[in-house]
Amino acid sequence: MAASFTQTTTAVEAVVADLLAVPVFAERALGPGADAVDSALGGGLAEFMDKTGFNGKPGESLAVPTGGRLGAKAVILVGLGKRDELTLDGLRRAAAVVAKRASRVKSLATTLLDAAPDSVNRADAAQALAEGVVLGSYKFLRYKGDPKPSKLSRVIVVGRGGARVKASLWRGSRIAEAVSWARDLVNEPSGAKSPAEIAALTRKVARGSGLKVKVLTGSNLAAERLGGVIGVGQGSQRPPCMVRLEYEPAGARRTVAFVGKGVVFDSGGLSLKPAAGMETMKTDMSGAAAVIAAMSALRDLEVKARVIAYVPLVENMPSGSAIRPGDVLTHRNGKTVEVLNTDAEGRLILADALAMAVEDEPDAIVDLATLTGACVIALGEKIAGLMGNDDAWSGQVGDAADRAGESMWHLPLPDEYRKLLDSEVADIANISGGRYGGALTAGLFLKEFVGDVPWVHLDIAGPARASADDGHTPKGGTGFGVRTLLEIASSFRAPGR
Ligand code: BES
Ligand code: MN
Ligand code: ZN
Repeated sequence: MAASFTQTTTAVEAVVADLLAVPVFAERALGPGADAVDSALGGGLAEFMDKTGFNGKPGESLAVPTGGRLGAKAVILVGLGKRDELTLDGLRRAAAVVAKRASRVKSLATTLLDAAPDSVNRADAAQALAEGVVLGSYKFLRYKGDPKPSKLSRVIVVGRGGARVKASLWRGSRIAEAVSWARDLVNEPSGAKSPAEIAALTRKVARGSGLKVKVLTGSNLAAERLGGVIGVGQGSQRPPCMVRLEYEPAGARRTVAFVGKGVVFDSGGLSLKPAAGMETMKTDMSGAAAVIAAMSALRDLEVKARVIAYVPLVENMPSGSAIRPGDVLTHRNGKTVEVLNTDAEGRLILADALAMAVEDEPDAIVDLATLTGACVIALGEKIAGLMGNDDAWSGQVGDAADRAGESMWHLPLPDEYRKLLDSEVADIANISGGRYGGALTAGLFLKEFVGDVPWVHLDIAGPARASADDGHTPKGGTGFGVRTLLEIASSFRAPGR
């Protein structure tokens, strides 16, 4: 369970907690609450920081002996860097640093919120603070013999408050809980998350969060003409499925559709990956995890728009029943595809999911997929590629990502590259001849299945997984995209209106 948040205007030196965290800006400038701590301790903070080499840089923290002179049992200083350069993400990161230092205690009090400059909206700052604490507390411990989860259960925000701050603290912690749920599913080993197991888990989640759910399996996949899902899934002992989720609040006037790539393990199929390339391929369902996690929080966040989701779930395996290079599949919308490389499987299952989403006539679609290594080459491990067929919608999604604090960068879908996907025998091939521009040709492939509906494709192959701990994001599954999806849903309006 995520920690609960309360807010108080009690004097800093009197607040009762296991740990009190107060901010310090660059060059050891005491932030809100740090001055009160300094007075209560008799004015020795400057010298103590000097002696220990603490400067107030982002990421720094320092435990301060209190000699029992405060209501809090212990105090830490947390560095924020230059006061006028503090951003929402800086606050989120500082909160994560604090949460890690507080992982062995039950209650934490902090004055961090009052460090946000006036230029930052206070409700947004409260949300970022709560997100940072909950995300920074995350650990995947399911398979550890001696798990040591964070004990932190109560966070007391000391400073100016009000109903909006309280609501935003709750909102931030609810969003971060959804991100943590996605991380758990991504970090789960593939052996324990077959398509059927993820579908069953999704049913359970849907029941608890007011969603309608429908799962297509077996002969229903053929009856619904989902040739891509069937083709990619046919090499595995564990059969594929297509999950549809729907959130329909009373009075909703607009609909947005989410689509997430759910490859529970990507071996490459007969176009087998080298061993090193498979090590992280349990995370190839990160798009699916982000979509399911976001859907599960819509009711709690009182989202006003209708949201539908399609999540194709498959395992990409080589076997006697696997699709072969050169095989031709027929997708939901009737288009045929020549599968020249079975490792370009994500686009094959997304094609069916996107075509189904289009049939629901949503106002806009966004898909998330760990789709190409090429996107990681282009943008690195922290930034998702954003492509689309509608500038207004692409702009809206990019703005939502900015507000949510997730990094994305626009990439083009050049018509002149479409011919690279021409097939000798079918309507389209699933790979282009060469390696250049691989993120774009993958995006161009998907574009064939969205018709005229405003659509954005997010290639999250880089940021879905972190190769090292980084502030509020631990090594492993990151839950990337959940925050952006929830921001999109919360602020949804039809593109161009
Ligand atoms: N799941 C991979 C993409 C990927 C690579 C995600 C590295 C995360 C890290 C995808 O299914 C894939 O294999 N893509 C191929 C496409 C190629 C065959 C056209 C790739 O990127 O090499
Ligand atoms: Mn692949
Ligand atoms: Zn894949």
